[in-house]
Amino acid sequence: MKVKIVGVPSYLGANCRGVDMGPSAVRYAGLIKMIRNMGIDVEDAGDVNIPNVESKDLKTEDINYLDEIIEICEDLSNKVEVLIKDNIMPIILGGDHSISIGSVGGLAKAKDNIGLIWIDAHGDFNTHETTCTGNIHGMSLATLVGRGLNKLVEIGGITPKVKEENVVLIGVRDLDRSERDLLLESKVTVFTMDDIDRMGIAEVMQKAIVISSKDTKGVHLSFDMDVLDPLEAPGVGTPVKGGINYREAHLALEMIAEADILTSIELVEVNPILDRYNRTAELAVDLITSALGKRIL
Ligand code: ARG
Ligand code: MN
Ligand code: MN
Ligand code: MN
Repeated sequence: MKVKIVGVPSYLGANCRGVDMGPSAVRYAGLIKMIRNMGIDVEDAGDVNIPNVESKDLKTEDINYLDEIIEICEDLSNKVEVLIKDNIMPIILGGDHSISIGSVGGLAKAKDNIGLIWIDAHGDFNTHETTCTGNIHGMSLATLVGRGLNKLVEIGGITPKVKEENVVLIGVRDLDRSERDLLLESKVTVFTMDDIDRMGIAEVMQKAIVISSKDTKGVHLSFDMDVLDPLEAPGVGTPVKGGINYREAHLALEMIAEADILTSIELVEVNPILDRYNRTAELAVDLITSALGKRIL
């Protein structure tokens, strides 16, 4: 296995500074060294270029930073496509969650049937019609299954990038009203915190692995750090109480690694400004190594 790190230091989809420093924080926490210690061939491919908008005011448009995010995601999708075609596993570091339109966009260009495991406190299932914030990080999953604004849905050229039947959302506990309605009428499989509490994370993951890999040629893991409880991961853009703990997160990723289904990994929404001693980024590094197959014995 060969892996390459791609940083996407953008906060534009969250319209709030901080998560743009996520890639640095995760690199600083020792990502490359930890992966290398596992005996895996790893290289840092650097960052995707982010248009500089700091001199502009924070936007309050219908959709914030639409054109900039399209540019970032097109660029990212091209990079991911090349890596996948070269048989290299991309590990994409966000950045806010809007970048997954680029990551999954690239994967969809390289392979024609893919699955998606989306681990998140939120649904990210708003469209331009339901969003209360105008922030694209709350629309990325909907976009990937072909819902919402044409300009977003068409990024990377493949629409939809993944079939709802092969999408699993895990750890959800904060949905907007109409976002919830949209999710309910969709074919996306949702495991809420309630399901995790009742079934246990192991059973949830077993089901998620089957659903995401059924008739697919690879699965993308999109891991939003805010799925963790804010007590364990305080450094995230939009914390929500009642999240999964350290052990559940590890087991979830260890099971995915064991199933050997992943083509690509993405970890988003780390905000070191809100953190204590970079502990959220350190946890992120731990979790990435688990997803790559690190085990206790
Ligand atoms: N539902 C809210 C919105 O649409 C919050 C989304 C949070 N998303 C995230 N990737 N952290 O803006
Ligand atoms: Mn998210
Ligand atoms: Mn989230
Ligand atoms: Mn582990």
